[in-house]
Amino acid sequence: MPIAPSTPASALLARRRALSARLSGPALIAAGEAPSRNYPANRYRFRATSHFAYFAGRHLAGSALLFVDGRAELFTHPPDPDDALWHGPRPALAQLRDELEFDAVRPLDELDLALSPHRGSVATLPPQDAASAAWLSLRLGREVERGSGARLTEAVDAALAEAMIALRLVHDEAAIAQLRFAASVSAEAHVAGMRATRVGGSELATLAAMIAVLRASGLDDAYGPIVTTHGEVLHSDRYDHAALAGDLLLADVGGETPEGWAADITRTWPVSGTFTSTQRAIYDVVLAAQHASLAVAKPGRRYRDVHEAAKRAIVEGLARLGIFRGEVDGLLERGAAALFFPHGIGHLLGLDVHDLEDLGDRAGYAPGRTRSPRFGDGYLRLDRELAPGMCVTIEPGFYQVPGILGDPRRTEPLGDDLRRDVLARFADVRGIRIEDDVLITEAGNEVLSALVPKDARAIEQLVGGG
Ligand code: GLY
Ligand code: MN
Ligand code: MN
Repeated sequence: MPIAPSTPASALLARRRALSARLSGPALIAAGEAPSRNYPANRYRFRATSHFAYFAGRHLAGSALLFVDGRAELFTHPPDPDDALWHGPRPALAQLRDELEFDAVRPLDELDLALSPHRGSVATLPPQDAASAAWLSLRLGREVERGSGARLTEAVDAALAEAMIALRLVHDEAAIAQLRFAASVSAEAHVAGMRATRVGGSELATLAAMIAVLRASGLDDAYGPIVTTHGEVLHSDRYDHAALAGDLLLADVGGETPEGWAADITRTWPVSGTFTSTQRAIYDVVLAAQHASLAVAKPGRRYRDVHEAAKRAIVEGLARLGIFRGEVDGLLERGAAALFFPHGIGHLLGLDVHDLEDLGDRAGYAPGRTRSPRFGDGYLRLDRELAPGMCVTIEPGFYQVPGILGDPRRTEPLGDDLRRDVLARFADVRGIRIEDDVLITEAGNEVLSALVPKDARAIEQLVGGG
């Protein structure tokens, strides 16, 4: 099994220097604490905050990075004499400093003293849990709010957030190597999922085959996996349906590398190994939408245009099938696309599957741009010009969601131009999504998840193949 690359210390150092160059005051970036269950030592695998992992390359529980006067110091727990018994020996602080090229690595209990000359002026990033918020509030001598990325009332915090966005929006070579690895192993997992799917099997059996591939290469889940025959439930977290002949199975599964870099891939395949004619017709509409979006995903193009390209291709395709009547511009104006494709075309991908969304729309939306008030378009998570080194997902879909198709606020503008008699023939298509991970390059883009097929015929050949 392939083993994940590791980010060289020189790349981590370059990232820390790039942040220091953007800062006008001190900053503290916390890793967070390992959650435990019924007693403190019953801990889960620890995953640091992505901002910490970006600079440290390791998930060091309870640790924090202090950037001050052009220096980057790591504060962490020194090795404990009991480690050798329970966890195996851990590196000494001096060893960590040498391996990761920090200016200094110091015991955590020296942090308060190091912060004391700067109290009140130290920037930090919005923590995602209450324990981290309390810990930071105590260290910094001010109220640090949990999950307040969208607001960030402190000017120093907002400036730090902007600096992080500037760095993490465009990936360096080491990050791209991580993303490439996560995508290729996750693509293999999808192939294994297709092969493992059987009529009379289960969602769980397909899920298990996919997760086995991720784990065998050291990848954890980048997000809660979705493996469902009810693709119309966009983020379904159930796996208790049988896999029946005639069902489509939607799998949205991606792993993260040991350093934390994510993949996010969706494929939809027929449980029987053969699409019905109605499933195939809609599948090809979604695939055409994905190709239309990929053709727009180039440097200098606005991501909103990638979204619009998918909307247009979906409405064109559904009109060709007779599900809509009328000309495409008017249908789009009346909200036709969101009836069946009610989410955005994708998002940033990096150390988090929805990268940088802990910082709110200041990451996804260029200055001066805001979310659309329109249903569907309002879920677009990214509205920036694309640039080489950015990584995004492209994930159009088609879903028959009863709550949308039965809601007059959504359907009345279409009136009889939504042909329900024709739509009824497509009842065996509950949900289809096709999602790839796309690196923007100088020349256009590179689909990092291309290893897993998406043409209907190629998928049919894999399903049930042992
Ligand atoms: N896996 C979540 C998403 O596609 O955004
Ligand atoms: Mn996604
Ligand atoms: Mn996904």
